Amino acid sequence: MNKYSRITGTGSYLPPRRVTNADLAAELAATGIETSDQWIVERTGIHSRYFAAPDVTSSDLGAQAARNALEAAGRNADEIDLIIVATSTPDMVFPSAACILQNKLGIAGCAAFDVQAVCSGFVYALTIADAMIRTGSASKALVIGAEVFSRILDFTDRTTCVLFGDGAGAVVLEASDTPGILATDLHADGKHVGILCVPGTVSGGKILGDPLLKMDGQAVFKLAIGVLEDAARATLTKAGRTEADIDWLIPHQANIRIMQGTARKLKMSLDKLIVTVNEHGNTSAASIPLALDASVRSGKIKKGDTLMLEGVGGGFTWGAVLLDF
Ligand SMILES: CC(C)(COP(=O)(O)OP(=O)(O)OC[C@H]1O[C@@H](n2cnc3c(N)ncnc32)[C@H](O)[C@@H]1OP(=O)(O)O)[C@@H](O)C(=O)NCCC(=O)NCCS
Repeated sequence: MNKYSRITGTGSYLPPRRVTNADLAAELAATGIETSDQWIVERTGIHSRYFAAPDVTSSDLGAQAARNALEAAGRNADEIDLIIVATSTPDMVFPSAACILQNKLGIAGCAAFDVQAVCSGFVYALTIADAMIRTGSASKALVIGAEVFSRILDFTDRTTCVLFGDGAGAVVLEASDTPGILATDLHADGKHVGILCVPGTVSGGKILGDPLLKMDGQAVFKLAIGVLEDAARATLTKAGRTEADIDWLIPHQANIRIMQGTARKLKMSLDKLIVTVNEHGNTSAASIPLALDASVRSGKIKKGDTLMLEGVGGGFTWGAVLLDF
């Protein structure tokens, strides 16, 4: 048994092709779809996103983020005894992106599996890794969010294709005598399956149903702010802390208006809100570790800071992790 788990290193990786709103608007205009930088910025806060090359997979992006996190933690890949990849865009139906990524890191033997909780995937994965470390099933974990959402976007649907991007973020989570992760809180409500989904699948060698993302943006918007507030408050109660103890709020980077609404509900200053959605759009399970790593590397987040990580997404799923960094 270990007392706590603690993040000892962060890393991230974005594919090289940066697509600004103006670039995307021009590409869409060529197919008769009208959008604008102004509309996208006003409704979402997104200025650009990154798209991976067609032959690049989630495990490719995730492996690079993992290498960067290992370097930051001062660990070698062969010290890792657990790999969890949060993704809804895995390389294959099976095996998991985690197994493929393990091989890319040049290691073998440790447990490796994927978690599929869409945009809440990283907080789900971090919660599982924390539990496995505290029960003694693992001592040094790689927890990764990696996505190539560009593969499941319908570029004839302007209400969704302007929102998402590709990328990966990772943390090394280690057994520790000091916290670390203070409290976690996970939820799902499957009756909302239809408001955010990719309803297709592979069957009998053919695609069955529609394999592209569908979303009722307004329904998602309304649900998201309420559940993010509830999950944050639940972790604070479990940890015996208050909103005033939070140094940085790192919500899932989907839409600046949802993020600011959540901060306001928690009566937090917007100065404490970590925002990277402007740069990389909604990268689903990758968005929280991407935002975390960017803020650690820029010097904004410092060792000892108290962080509230919050995910929300398809399922409907939501959850939060409160931690001392
Ligand atoms: C998707 C979202 C940005 C749409 O914003 P909205 O204010 O709800 O916009 P609406 O859907 O009401 O559309 C308003 C108008 O903009 C138009 N529009 C939609 N997408 C557009 C685009 N990319 N460019 C230009 N116009 C667009 C609509 O057609 C509509 O036009 P109309 O009034 O003539 O019918 C917003 O609902 C949202 O952010 N939802 C949450 C999505 C999210 O975060 N999902 C991920 C969660 S994990």
